[in-house]
Amino acid sequence: MSLTTTNTPATVETPFTTGALSSDADFWAKYIASRPTPSEEFFRVIQDYHSSHGDSTTALAHDVGTGPGNIAERLLRYYDHVVGSDVNKRALVAAPSLIPQDKVQRMTFVHSPAENLLAGGVVPADVGAGKTDLVVVSECMPLLDAPKALDAFHGLLRVGGTLAIYFYGRPIFTSGQDPAHLDSLYDRIATKICSFLLPFKGTPGFPFHKRGAEALVSCLDNIPLPSGAWADVVRYKWNTNVTLLFNSKAGFDFDFEPVDRREDGEVTKEIRDRTWWQDEWDADRVKSYLDSVYPSYIEKAGDRYVEIEQGIEELREAMGGGKVKVSFPVALILATKK
Ligand SMILES: C[S@@+](CC[C@H](N)C(=O)[O-])C[C@H]1O[C@@H](n2cnc3c(N)ncnc32)[C@H](O)[C@@H]1O
Repeated sequence: MSLTTTNTPATVETPFTTGALSSDADFWAKYIASRPTPSEEFFRVIQDYHSSHGDSTTALAHDVGTGPGNIAERLLRYYDHVVGSDVNKRALVAAPSLIPQDKVQRMTFVHSPAENLLAGGVVPADVGAGKTDLVVVSECMPLLDAPKALDAFHGLLRVGGTLAIYFYGRPIFTSGQDPAHLDSLYDRIATKICSFLLPFKGTPGFPFHKRGAEALVSCLDNIPLPSGAWADVVRYKWNTNVTLLFNSKAGFDFDFEPVDRREDGEVTKEIRDRTWWQDEWDADRVKSYLDSVYPSYIEKAGDRYVEIEQGIEELREAMGGGKVKVSFPVALILATKK
């Protein structure tokens, strides 16, 4: 295992990222425990694509926005070595303590914004530009400057390598007496939490909030994969009749609409599967999910935090006091470097 670092730009208040900057290993352990776990079937979709397009070598993967390395670790099942990069140095320091040591030996951690990964000396040359078989961007793309980041991913990959960008949204309740009612109770709580974070408009972080919201409401269709640089673009969308937004538009102080930058010749596969990434959650698990999606909200809520506690108790009662099955909306973009 090795860790290389680079300077990061001055921070402004941005979605998720700045709220998690002072996080320690305990925060990231809770983060991993509270998030949905992508099914092995999901990683096989990526691997099936990788082995049937371009060059199917599986020597090196790079997990961009790796956070505590939870997805990088999953990639070790398919790749000999995995690089995990992130703008958050504390997440990278926490990662090796959360991953078994024998696996850490097969990993390299790089402290860098995604947009800067091609700069000289940032990624060690033996796992750097033109060497990567697979670039994965898990739960991170809406946080990035897409054109700059896509240039970096293109440079990291070797010709015929695979780019896999994915993002999941809110839990969708699929069992219990009235799943639609549970969905609306969740939405009411999440939308209130988002409103505690306002203002977005007029702050230095506004462009980050705007591009994030646009990516989520667009189910990543706003991310262009120009045909001059990428081949065989496939966009999977599981359950995206529910968008990737964690809360309703009413929680924001600006308007935004879906943007579609898909090109002719791309394939979109829409799948409705309410067992996708299926899990069973109780009200406390929903609460810990919300705590990790909106890292700094409790402090910002002040006295109004009690309203969230009340909302969770209402949800608990509607869930019958126990666990309810949940599924997720997930969008995955696959593309091959030309
Ligand atoms: C929601 S977490 C995702 C962590 C992990 N990939 C997962 O799927 O659970 C988003 C991560 O993206 C990172 N991130 C945000 N902006 C970034 C940037 N410009 N460059 C690299 N990483 C960034 C954050 O620090 C954070 O670790």
